[in-house]
Amino acid sequence: MLTVFWLILLHLLAPIKCQDCILKTPHHLTCVTHLPHLENEFPPNITILELRDIEQDELDLNYMIHKYPQIENVSIYDGNIVRLKSPNPANKIKVLRLVRIGVENIGNKFLANFPNLEILDLRENFLQSLGNFSVGKLKELYLDGNTWNCSQDLNWVLKLNQTIVKDLNNLTCQGNPHPNKNLVTIARFTKDLKNNCPSICSCTLPKVVFTKMGSQRLEPLIEVNCSHRGLTHLPLDLPAKSRIIHLEGNEIEDLKPLKHHQIYRKVLDLYLDNNKVKTIEELEGSYFLKHFRVFSLSGNKLTEVPTYALDNALTQNPHMPNALTISLGGNPWRCDCVFTPVFQEMLQKFAPQIHDLREVKCSYVEGDENSLLPIIELSRSSVCRSPSEYSVQALDLLNGVLASLILLILGKLAYDYYYFKKTGRLPWIVTKMP
Ligand SMILES: *[C@@H]1O[C@H](CO)[C@@H](O)[C@H](O)[C@H]1NC(C)=O
Ligand SMILES: *[C@@H]1O[C@H](CO)[C@@H](O)[C@H](O)[C@H]1NC(C)=O
Ligand SMILES: *[C@@H]1O[C@H](CO)[C@@H](O)[C@H](O)[C@H]1NC(C)=O
Ligand SMILES: *[C@@H]1O[C@H](CO)[C@@H](O)[C@H](O)[C@H]1NC(C)=O
Ligand SMILES: *[C@@H]1O[C@H](CO)[C@@H](O)[C@H](O)[C@H]1NC(C)=O
Ligand SMILES: *[C@@H]1O[C@H](CO)[C@@H](O)[C@H](O)[C@H]1NC(C)=O
Ligand SMILES: *[C@@H]1O[C@H](CO)[C@@H](O)[C@H](O)[C@H]1NC(C)=O
Repeated sequence: MLTVFWLILLHLLAPIKCQDCILKTPHHLTCVTHLPHLENEFPPNITILELRDIEQDELDLNYMIHKYPQIENVSIYDGNIVRLKSPNPANKIKVLRLVRIGVENIGNKFLANFPNLEILDLRENFLQSLGNFSVGKLKELYLDGNTWNCSQDLNWVLKLNQTIVKDLNNLTCQGNPHPNKNLVTIARFTKDLKNNCPSICSCTLPKVVFTKMGSQRLEPLIEVNCSHRGLTHLPLDLPAKSRIIHLEGNEIEDLKPLKHHQIYRKVLDLYLDNNKVKTIEELEGSYFLKHFRVFSLSGNKLTEVPTYALDNALTQNPHMPNALTISLGGNPWRCDCVFTPVFQEMLQKFAPQIHDLREVKCSYVEGDENSLLPIIELSRSSVCRSPSEYSVQALDLLNGVLASLILLILGKLAYDYYYFKKTGRLPWIVTKMP
């Protein structure tokens, strides 16, 4: 009696303890951690194979298909499979799910062995890019949750068919650049960027931002590099959303397009160092001057700036005080009593924003002791002394003469008063007055 009971119990326990594979339905075989052992006998006509947490480096699908040739539906979830060997093309697989098994690459070489494939699910793997990919009968493709790398060429994204890739609009870039931003949007931005960049410049997309707080719409923040290209004018054929523009080391003189041309209206950072800019007066009242973040004008030909207008624009600028940077060094600044005191006051006021404050120096003037001195350090008297020592002396002389005349008149007055008190006679001049 007891033996029989034990036998029955063992029989019941056995499949649970040593058996990793069970038949869920007569056609649906599920295996956890291990593939079916050779001695396990399942009907050869199963059509669904489901594997979970398989703990082996290499998984040979060919072996399984050979044993169960009717399989149409293969699902592999989780596990650390390093190599997945594809089956012989003479198979009936229509559905292939490879989810969370660490796939890093998948290509036509692998997929060519699934001529009947209709549904392919590659979610939550480590795919960075899809490269070349074509499956003839494919009806559904799932790609969400992969580590799409948006610093690589994204042309493949734009070739995907939205009716086939069911989660196309859910895909996001992972890691830098553009973490968690919509993959299709980024791919479109980079394509537009390539198409619209002037051939002599280079354009990049360092960042994308949401158009508004809480909005899901993205806007590109384009950086254009046209530095050292021998340009004589501000280029006007830039991509529409150019926000950071490098134009260092050209021969640009005229800044009027900054005020009048649509392309420059919303530029955030403008690098114009080492050009031939003589004046920024025409920027008075411009949108740019009130909204820029970086305006770099070092090494130009500026002698003066409209201090009042600049002060006014900077004060209104939303990037004040921490995000705003301006460079003015290496220009031949005019140092005289008319311009310099106001300019110096402005330099002091915006010292935290002026990137190269100590490089803002008086131009070289032969014999002038302020030549090439930092304007911020000049004393007012050294600027507002008249240019030549002679005229200073003449002024001093005039002052001396005036002072002695005043003394003389006061003396005469005192004398006359004393004389009148003593003698009662009025001064001679009074007797002559009518
Ligand atoms: C599958 O095979 C088993 C045993 O070989 C048989 O009993 C069953 O009817 C078959 N099922 C189908 C759908 O052919
Ligand atoms: C394929 O098998 C999975 C289970 O492994 C099931 O959820 C799915 O519905 C099956 N798909 C088809 C098309 O039979
Ligand atoms: C993509 O595949 C085509 C043929 O299918 C081939 O000619 C081309 O070289 C492949 N491109 C890459 C980048 O692998
Ligand atoms: C993305 O691709 C670039 C270029 O191929 C590579 O240098 C970088 O390491 C990749 N990023 C990640 C997170 O693997
Ligand atoms: C996308 O796939 C559908 C269905 O397979 C097809 O009808 C359509 O022509 C494809 N579109 C493109 C642009 O390839
Ligand atoms: C896309 O993501 C949304 C929100 O996360 C989700 O509700 C939706 O099911 C996803 N679509 C697909 C096709 O995966
Ligand atoms: C712009 O391009 C030049 C080469 O043409 C390069 O030397 C320079 O570093 C680039 N500047 C930036 C900010 O990328």
